[in-house]
Amino acid sequence: MYHLSCVHCGARYPPDAVLYTCERCGHLLEVRYPLEEVRVTREDWQQRPLSVWRYRELLPVAGAPVTLREGGTPLYSLERLGREMGLRSLHAKHEGMNPSGSFKDRGMTVGVSMALQLGKRTVACASTGNTSASLAMYAAKAGIPSVVLLPAGKVALGKVAQALLHGARVIAIRGNFDRALEMVHELCLSHGLYLLNSINPYRLEGQKTIGFEVLDQLGTVPDRIVLPVGNAGNISAVYKGLSELRDLGFIDALPKMTGVQAAGSAPVVRAIQEGLPDVIPEPSPETVATAIRIGAPVNGEKALVAIRKTGGTAVSVSDAEILSMQKALASREGIGVEPASAASVAGVRRMVEEGIIDRDERVVCVVTGHLLKDPETVVKQCAPPVEIDADMQSLLSALHL
Ligand code: F0G
Repeated sequence: MYHLSCVHCGARYPPDAVLYTCERCGHLLEVRYPLEEVRVTREDWQQRPLSVWRYRELLPVAGAPVTLREGGTPLYSLERLGREMGLRSLHAKHEGMNPSGSFKDRGMTVGVSMALQLGKRTVACASTGNTSASLAMYAAKAGIPSVVLLPAGKVALGKVAQALLHGARVIAIRGNFDRALEMVHELCLSHGLYLLNSINPYRLEGQKTIGFEVLDQLGTVPDRIVLPVGNAGNISAVYKGLSELRDLGFIDALPKMTGVQAAGSAPVVRAIQEGLPDVIPEPSPETVATAIRIGAPVNGEKALVAIRKTGGTAVSVSDAEILSMQKALASREGIGVEPASAASVAGVRRMVEEGIIDRDERVVCVVTGHLLKDPETVVKQCAPPVEIDADMQSLLSALHL
């Protein structure tokens, strides 16, 4: 049976403890499995459909999960962009192809299942958008209420639409995401709601399956996995999962975990580049990639370990680089993603140019959310459709034929 363990002081807690941080020292918790008791093989896994639940031996859920068939997302080879950058092998794992259109569904299938397993009946989160959409969707599937706190005016339209229609109680606060997270955390501790932000160690268990799927799809361990970083949960989760596979003897090397942040919102990059022991919060984060507009990443401590232990790095990219890569992915590779997701590939381009990435590396970018999440940002970038009278002559002249 697994237990919860503090990443800082090693304190142990039983699996039925409803805890988000260590009671002794206040640091982050993680789920630990007795790996010597795990009997499954990689071949067993490969017999099952590609999904979060292919890897159930390394997940905490005991009974039937609350599932909407998450995971099993495509891994695309970015042939044109890879060739242009001079890379031998560049892939994108399109997490926008999950049920709610982002990778958060991997965390929520596990997180909402755990809420029920722990006897919790109301779930809550703060969100820059995608977490709220996913939580609302999985709470609807489970038949339980959800409460979401959003930074007012800073959440992309598609995400708000999802949270509303799936039936969450949606509260917009006049403050940023970091403040919303503090408030919902306090609310959950005082009123017994179950917190499903990435500070919740069970949610990250679901998200680690991104790395498992990449290995199964690529057939090998990539040299580098590149992710956009906001609250720094996802990069920490993928690292944890792959470390478990190494400890099980399934793989013998880990990819260089590499994070990309928006230049106006880059506290993890700063900590890595300046060799700081901790992430120093950025008081007023700003970027067009609202999903990663986060100044005080709660999983900073885990992310620094992931990056440093694997010889990875973290870089920032400008909003202009993000939007230009979003367009390149859409128009040259047929891959529609939201701005935050394009940050990972924009970061790769920059790291190749700066000589940080070797051209022989096999690089996998995680693109985290779908284009349709944020139609407003896209429409602002593109010329509007050409409107014509409904006759053939007008059509031919509009097409210059
Ligand atoms: N990409 C997208 C599309 C996201 O929505 C997020 C986070 C990230 C990347 C960064 O992941 O936080 O694990 O480092 N979105 C959260 C939310 C914060 O509320 O939807 P992270």
